[in-house]
Formats: sequence, C-alpha cells, structure tokens
Amino acid sequence: MKTAMAAAGTAIAILLYALLFSGTQAQAQAETTEVVTTSKVPSILPACKTVGGGSVFFDVQFCVEALGSDDRSADAGMNYGAYSAIAADLLTANATTTAAKIDALLLRRGNDATARCLRSCQGLYGGVVRRQPGCAAAVRGRRKGEATSCLERAASAAMECEDGFGKSKVASPVTMENDDAFKLAKLAVALLTMAH
Ligand SMILES: *[C@@H]1O[C@H](CO)[C@@H](O)[C@H](O)[C@H]1NC(C)=O
Repeated sequence: MKTAMAAAGTAIAILLYALLFSGTQAQAQAETTEVVTTSKVPSILPACKTVGGGSVFFDVQFCVEALGSDDRSADAGMNYGAYSAIAADLLTANATTTAAKIDALLLRRGNDATARCLRSCQGLYGGVVRRQPGCAAAVRGRRKGEATSCLERAASAAMECEDGFGKSKVASPVTMENDDAFKLAKLAVALLTMAH
C-alpha cells in the first residue's frame, strides 16, 4: 500500500515536471515565433492602434504582440472580425494552459488560503474553458451580443480569480495569467466592436 502510494506520488511528480518543462519549451518556442513574425507587425498595427489607442484595458503593444504571435494575423488583411476570432482563440489557449497550471499548483498544496483561492480559480477557469468553443464560434458568426457577453464573462472570471488572492491577502501565483486572459478577452471584444 505504502509503495503504491509512493509510486503514485512519483508519477504525479514526474507529470508535474513534464507539465512545467513543456510549458517552458512552449514559451521558448513562442518567443522564437515572435521574432520571426515581427515582419508581419505593420499589417496589424493600424487595427491595434485603433482599438488599443482608446482602451483603458490594454495598449497598442499588447495587441501587436498578441495578434503578432499568431501566423494567421498576417493574412487577415485589416479584417477586424478575423482579428477578433484570432484573439478569441488566443484566449482559449491561454485559459486552457492556465487551468492546467492551476490544477498542477493544487496537486502540491494543502488547504491554506492560497489553495482555497486556487480552487475558486479552478472553477472560474473551468467555466471559461468550457464556454470558449461556443464563445469563439459566436465571434466567428459575428453574433456580437452573445460573443461580447461571453468574452466579458471570461474577463470577469480572470479578474475575480486575481481579486480572490487580494481579499485573502496572499500572493497570487497566477497574476500574469489572469492579466493575459483579461486583456485578451477585452482585446477580442474591442476588435469585434469594430467588425462589420
Ligand atoms: C497568453 O497570452 C499572452 C498575450 O498574448 C501571451 O504572451 C502568452 O504567451 C500566452 N500564453 C499562453 C500559454 O498561451
């Protein structure tokens, strides 16, 4: 029994390292891609200036870096609807990765304040991940009302997750992730508002 539990513990540890390591690798790859795609930045710059210039939620640079990280942006040709769909897809990827990170963080925590906050975040991001396919489909279908409320729910979920740590007066291990998800959702909304 003990050895079985120890084996399970080792398996979880290996899984965790694999998860963290693959995350690092993906990040390294994303950075390489970003360098390659800088030549495509000018094509998205006007759209990013339009939505980022007047936004209190994200700036032009965030928009350029986010859309620039996706190869499809280069061929979207000043199409706000297409850009919004790309931002929605980036949000899906982001929320999925964040949900997995939260799961991994919870594997090695007891029941302290941080763990309770993380569990609340787990529920919030679980909801975002579940809704994202429908949300992205609504963006693609230019169903602005449905898409906007769905994206706003994602932005609120990210903010609520982050606020939980603040209220409990503990450090958030997912500040960057919450910030990215919040901004990506707001970016998708702003781009969709400009779409015909
Ligand atoms: C999440 O989105 C941000 C902003 O676009 C990006 O920099 C980051 O690499 C993304 N992370 C993942 C895991 O997709």
